[in-house]
Amino acid sequence: MTNEPLLLQTALATFADLWSPRIVTRVNDYDVRIAKVAGEHIWHAHENTDEFFLVLEGELDIALRDGEADGGPTGAGRGERVVTLPQGAVFVVPRGVEHRPASAAGASILLFEPTGTPSVGDRHEPVPDHIDVTIGRALG
Ligand code: NI
Repeated sequence: MTNEPLLLQTALATFADLWSPRIVTRVNDYDVRIAKVAGEHIWHAHENTDEFFLVLEGELDIALRDGEADGGPTGAGRGERVVTLPQGAVFVVPRGVEHRPASAAGASILLFEPTGTPSVGDRHEPVPDHIDVTIGRALG
């Protein structure tokens, strides 16, 4: 954490890990985090907070389960959709909504969410090795 101006490009150049958000600064009790991503994250949900995304480089797809259930007894097939965020796009996943970020060609993103928010949410499917479970790591 610094009280000096910080270039996001410079910050992004300090790490290569995928799906491992770095905290670049804090605003009140929120983190500004950046992450490099490629391939698929996991389905997860943040029960108590919205999650803000800004795409810095590349393109991000976020699959969302925010549609109507199909009426089956388990809610299986609950309406899924995918939003595609080009570079420069912002999007907010509302609290409680299951989502799965992905980027086929890779992307760099900025996240804005309360300090302490786990990257894999409060409930999630099993976490594979390529996904970091973190509340945001320090830069550098
Ligand atoms: Ni999330």
